Amino acid sequence: MGSQPDVQRDLAVCGCSLVPGEKNSHAAEGAHDPTPTPYFVLEDLLGGLGLTEADHVLDVGCGTGRVLAYAVWAGLPGQVTGVELDARLAARAAAWSAHYENIHVVCGSVLDLPLEPYSCFYLFNPFDTPVLRAFLDKLEREAARPVTLVHMSDNGEWPAYLGRSGWTLLREGTFDLPAEGERDECPQHFSVRRFTP
Ligand SMILES: C[S@@+](CC[C@H](N)C(=O)[O-])C[C@H]1O[C@@H](n2cnc3c(N)ncnc32)[C@H](O)[C@@H]1O
Repeated sequence: MGSQPDVQRDLAVCGCSLVPGEKNSHAAEGAHDPTPTPYFVLEDLLGGLGLTEADHVLDVGCGTGRVLAYAVWAGLPGQVTGVELDARLAARAAAWSAHYENIHVVCGSVLDLPLEPYSCFYLFNPFDTPVLRAFLDKLEREAARPVTLVHMSDNGEWPAYLGRSGWTLLREGTFDLPAEGERDECPQHFSVRRFTP
């Protein structure tokens, strides 16, 4: 299940619903279930970043590609890539987005992906804290320029940023997300941070 307006927008942009209806098969690797971000949240968080043609956004754990669909719908400038650990979900995202030249899907772990090309990272509760720490360590090693990281999480992502240098908190708050699938209605914390290497 997804909210009716969101599913209608999925259908208009992609020709299919992006609500996966299945659990993640990589829980042993710290992966969370593939719940899509509601469009109103993406409009607030990504629509307000002032992205340009020079930007390249990486959706860390893209699932079936809701963030990519938002980029198409909103006409975001620049390139948008989704990386997804679950091969079935990555194949679904790749299938509907294949004819968009600025949208790309990579199947695999973000921990194996070179991060230097990206200027902006979006995370919606993709994995547990040990993987998040490993991802942040990798980003700090590989970022070649200042990067923006937008992070939505219901499990308290902020301790993973404690004690790290080079990070600036630009904005934070909460969204009340509607109940979806097995998830009850719950507030999701978000933060927008800048990392300067
Ligand atoms: C909550 S979903 C978010 C989906 C999408 N980003 C969105 O906002 O609509 C999290 C996704 O992260 C993926 N994931 C978990 N660990 C990953 C990793 N190490 N590398 C790439 N993707 C991962 C999961 O398989 C899952 O599909």
